[in-house]
Amino acid sequence: MKISWHGQSCVRIQTDTGVAILIDPFITGNSKSDLDPDTVEADVIFLTHAHNDHIGDTESIAKRTDALIVANAEIATFFKKKGLKTHGMQMGGKHQFDFGEVKMTPAIHGSSYEVDGESLTLGLAAGIIFSADGQTIYHAGDTALFTDMKLIGAYKTIDLALLPIGDNYTMGPEDATIAASYIQAKKVIPIHYNTFPLIEQNAEEFCMGLPEEQGLALKVGEIIDVSYV
Ligand code: NI
Ligand code: MN
Repeated sequence: MKISWHGQSCVRIQTDTGVAILIDPFITGNSKSDLDPDTVEADVIFLTHAHNDHIGDTESIAKRTDALIVANAEIATFFKKKGLKTHGMQMGGKHQFDFGEVKMTPAIHGSSYEVDGESLTLGLAAGIIFSADGQTIYHAGDTALFTDMKLIGAYKTIDLALLPIGDNYTMGPEDATIAASYIQAKKVIPIHYNTFPLIEQNAEEFCMGLPEEQGLALKVGEIIDVSYV
């Protein structure tokens, strides 16, 4: 599979079978995004939690593309009521889809959604382990460091881990460095930083603090082939 990062936690996956997956498609209002919400392709949308910088443009993209939304059961129900295609899951659960296997992991974080002047609490925040094409990636979502991240690396060999480093709302670089040592991924890609001043971080410096060659600070829109990591 091929993967690219599009600012904040937005990640695009293209499987070898041609399935386009968007994770946390926050495009409108994302100062780092290079995507166009009116044309971006999506067959599937994974959501780690409900915060607006993660749900982002999900509704309009799913309406236009008929993409399947995979999220916690509460977010899935919210979008199902709007007539969208959904698949609800919960932490610890895994499901084999025709495009790959999804396992939902815990994350220590909130999951509210500000919409139409209301704040809705939509379940708990999660991370996602996705396997396809013989490769596995872990998108940690927004989370604090927790020692059970060791179980994620024990569950499967993680080819690529996407870890937040922005601090304040999530792990900062120091804790993400410890997380990387727990997960033992072949490559670690920092996410959730530099979208706004409060979460400014030096991604290159973070990567240099990881064991040799492990850190990979992707440029926005840069595509990497996970089979080569
Ligand atoms: Ni969040
Ligand atoms: Mn966030």
